[in-house]
Amino acid sequence: MRALQSTTRSVPRSASRRAAVAVSAAAPGPKRVVITGGNTGIGFEAALELVKKGHSVTLACRDDGKAAAAAARIKAAVPSAAVDTLHLDLADLGSVSDAAKSLLDSPAPIDVLLNNAGVMACPYMTTKQGFEYQFGVNHLGHFLLTTSLLPKIKASEGARIVSVASAAHAFGKIDFDSFRSSKDYKEWPAYGQSKLANIMFTYELARRLASDPSAPTANALHPGVVRTELGRYLVSDDSPFYMKIMWGMMTPFTKSPEQGAQTSIYLVSSPEVEGVSGKYFDNCRPISSTPASYDTDVARRLYDVSQELVAAAVDSAAMA
Ligand SMILES: NC(=O)c1ccc[n+]([C@@H]2O[C@H](COP(=O)([O-])OP(=O)(O)OC[C@H]3O[C@@H](n4cnc5c(N)ncnc54)[C@H](OP(=O)(O)O)[C@@H]3O)[C@@H](O)[C@H]2O)c1
Repeated sequence: MRALQSTTRSVPRSASRRAAVAVSAAAPGPKRVVITGGNTGIGFEAALELVKKGHSVTLACRDDGKAAAAAARIKAAVPSAAVDTLHLDLADLGSVSDAAKSLLDSPAPIDVLLNNAGVMACPYMTTKQGFEYQFGVNHLGHFLLTTSLLPKIKASEGARIVSVASAAHAFGKIDFDSFRSSKDYKEWPAYGQSKLANIMFTYELARRLASDPSAPTANALHPGVVRTELGRYLVSDDSPFYMKIMWGMMTPFTKSPEQGAQTSIYLVSSPEVEGVSGKYFDNCRPISSTPASYDTDVARRLYDVSQELVAAAVDSAAMA
């Protein structure tokens, strides 16, 4: 795999941090990795590979039965695996708050947060707090989880935040009027918006953390087109027949979940990306995202608006 010496941080880091990075060429020691949606698909394969490398994983999932079954499959494959589960429904900010509290209260560190869970191209639906579902699950839920856990993540030396975005961000646009609205809703642009938000949040977070020597790195990735359950809404009984045909025709050109997990595993565990932050990766290499994703004004506004939206939702849940 190509080394990343030429890929300097897109944001400045402190001199002491850079010096520490320079001497840490060896593979990092065992890490505790929290993976959202680790019960299936790319997240499951990443979890399995990471425990094989000696890391411990927490599968943060919305379905406790699926999470327990996934943990059992990991244990069966790797009997020494350190794996546990945590209830997390990203479509309910109350559940996200509870999961964050439980992680903050636990003595176990958080060395890496892998924001992996996602939904794609669903019909118009809303989260518990009334947000458009794809924006709510893919972006807002992860935004609240990440920002809530930041103080604890910062306490781990060399910590990382890795977010699974998508090349589909190319057909997204951040429309600040759409977050709670069904007006002009279309499945694919809404998916694109949520994945663009993953990337812009990553870049903005990296910028905001750049001057803090104890801060984690933040990177995003495209996993490839991968044969997982992500296409569940495309092959449902209600979806148009041409969508089912198109999905079927793409299958031979897709990656296996194991192949699709490689860039996540790389960003979570490789010493090559120690200290690298604010980048977007594909096939374990940094690449450019779309020009729109580098709009710092929109990214700053998205961060601030997301903060206001989740704070209001959490406050009203606490009052209920
Ligand atoms: N597959 C691809 O071709 C592809 C391409 C680009 C990007 N991605 C991204 O890769 C990531 C992983 O997707 P995948 O392909 O592995 O899909 P997947 O097999 O459908 O897995 C998605 C995971 O997210 C979980 N999830 C969905 N809604 C959730 C919620 N409200 N709260 C908590 N967890 C939730 C699912 O839980 P359940 O099992 O309970 O539903 C599942 O564990 C996603 O972010 C996706 O956008 C995938």
